[in-house]
Amino acid sequence: IVDIKAEPDDGLNKLGETVVVRGWVRTLRVQSNVTFIEVNDGSCLSNMQCVMSYDTEGYDQVENGVISTGASVWIQGTIVASQGSKQKVELKVDKLVTIGKSDTSFPIQKKRVSREFLRTKAHLRPRTNTFGAVSRVRNALAFATHKFFQENGFIWLSSPIITASDCEGAGEQFCVTTLLPNSGESAESPVSAIPTTKDGLIDWSRKMPSVNSQFLVCGRLNTTAMRMSDDFFGKPAFLTVSGQLNAETYATALSDVYTFGPTFRAENSNTSRHLAEFWMIEPELAFADLEDDMACATAYLQYVVQHILENCKEDMDFFNTWIEKGIINRLRDVVEKNFVQLTYTEAVELLRNSKRTFEFPVTWGCDLQSEHERYITEEAFVLYEYQEIKAFYMRQNDDGKTVAAMDMLVPRVGELIGGSQREERLPYLEQRLDDLKLNKESYWWYLDLRRYGSVPHAGFGLGFERLVQFATGLDNIRDAIPFPRAPGSAEF
Ligand code: 4AD
Ligand code: MG
Repeated sequence: IVDIKAEPDDGLNKLGETVVVRGWVRTLRVQSNVTFIEVNDGSCLSNMQCVMSYDTEGYDQVENGVISTGASVWIQGTIVASQGSKQKVELKVDKLVTIGKSDTSFPIQKKRVSREFLRTKAHLRPRTNTFGAVSRVRNALAFATHKFFQENGFIWLSSPIITASDCEGAGEQFCVTTLLPNSGESAESPVSAIPTTKDGLIDWSRKMPSVNSQFLVCGRLNTTAMRMSDDFFGKPAFLTVSGQLNAETYATALSDVYTFGPTFRAENSNTSRHLAEFWMIEPELAFADLEDDMACATAYLQYVVQHILENCKEDMDFFNTWIEKGIINRLRDVVEKNFVQLTYTEAVELLRNSKRTFEFPVTWGCDLQSEHERYITEEAFVLYEYQEIKAFYMRQNDDGKTVAAMDMLVPRVGELIGGSQREERLPYLEQRLDDLKLNKESYWWYLDLRRYGSVPHAGFGLGFERLVQFATGLDNIRDAIPFPRAPGSAEF
C-alpha cells in the first residue's frame, strides 16, 4: 500500500492511477448503495479505503459473505478523491478477489482489545495497528543501528549463542545439554518427561527420558546440572548472557566492532523490563576509555532516535496519540538536550535528599533499584559512573575500590545501557578473578588478550527491546519483541 499520508498532498498526486492492493481486510462496512473495505498490507499504518458498489466485479463476495474481517484480498482499482474526512484519496474498486477467507472466529475485530489479550495471540497481533507500528519501528531501529556503526567504521561480529563462559558472573545462564537416548525407551514430550525436583530443577539423580540427541535448554545454572551437561561439548555449556568477551577478542584485532544478536538470561524476574531472551547491541571500542564509551553511547542513541523521528512519522504519531502522550517531545529531547552526568555518589545523594520514601533504602554502596532509577530519570536522561566494583572485567580506578563503569538511564525504562572500560592490565585482571574465586584457567584465552598487545578498550551493552520500549512508549517489554520469552511464557 502506498503510504498515502507520506505522499505529497496525501496521495492526491496519484489521482487517476490504476493500482493493485494485496492485503488483509481490517473492516468491512456494507451500506445500502456502497461498501467500504479497509485493507492493510503492513507496509504502513494507513489502510487503503476501497469503495465498491453492487455492480463492481466481485461484489458477489460481499453479498455471499465470502469476504470478512481478516480475509486476504487482491483488489484492483483507481485512485480517486475521497468524500470522507479521514483520507484525501481512496480506491474505487474495479475488481475484488478474495484470496483466503477468514473464519468468523477471527479474534481481532474492530473494537480495541488489550495488549494483555493480544499477548495470548502473538501469531495474530501483528495484524493490529499497534503491533504493525511496533514492528516497523523495531525494524527501523535495527536498520539505524547497523547504519550508525557501519558509518563509523565498526565491524559487525556474530558472537556465539552457545558459550562456556559466564560474562556477567551472575549465575543467570540457561544451561545447554544433550540427553543421549536411553536404550529401548521413548518419551513423547522430552521436556515434560524430564524429572524435576520440588523446586523445579532437573533431578539428575533420576533416569532421564530418551531424546534423540537434541539440545535441551534446561534451566538455571546449578552445580548438579553442570556436572551432567558436559557430554557434548566436553564441558558445561550455556546460552550466552552477553557477547562482550567475544567482542573484546575481535576488538583487539579489528579495532572497533559491534555485536547485535540474541542473549539469554534465566533471571526469574517477572517484570515489565525483563525478558529471558532479548537482543543486545554490544559495541567494543579499541584504544578507548570510559569517556569515549559514554560519547559513543550518547551519539548512538541520538542517531537512532533521530532516525525514527525522521523516517517513522506516521507510526510515531500513532504512539504519541494512542500509547504514550508526549513521547515524540521526549524523544526530541534525547536528540537536542544534553544528558545529565552524575557520579554514583551524586546519584546516591540525590536519592537521599529526596522526600520520596523508597522501598529499598539508599546507602552508599548499594545497587540502585528500579524505583531509584525511575526517580532519577523522571526529568532527564542520565549517564552515571559507578563506584562499586562490579563485574570482573571492569577496569579498576586508581583509588583501588571503584571501577570505570557507567549506566545510561532513561525515563520510564530505567537502565537502557550498561558499559565500562575493560581491565586491560594482566596482573589486575588475574587478581580480580582470584578475588571473585573465578576459575582463571577457564579464562585463559581472555587473559591472552592482555598478554599479546593489550590495549585500553571499552564498550557497552544496550538491550534492544528496552530501546523499542523507550522509543514507542510501550509499558511492557513483552510487547517490544515479536515472540516474548519470559518466566511462564514460551508459546508460539
Ligand atoms: O548491564 P548488562 O548486564 O551488561 C552486560 O551484559 C555487559 N556485558 C554489556 C557490555 O558492556 N558489553 O546488560 C546490558 C543491557 C542492560 O542495560 C539492559 O538494557 C539489557 O542489557 N538487559 C535486559 N534487557 C531485557 N531483559 C533482560 N533480562 C535484560 N538484562 C539486561
Ligand atoms: Mg547492567
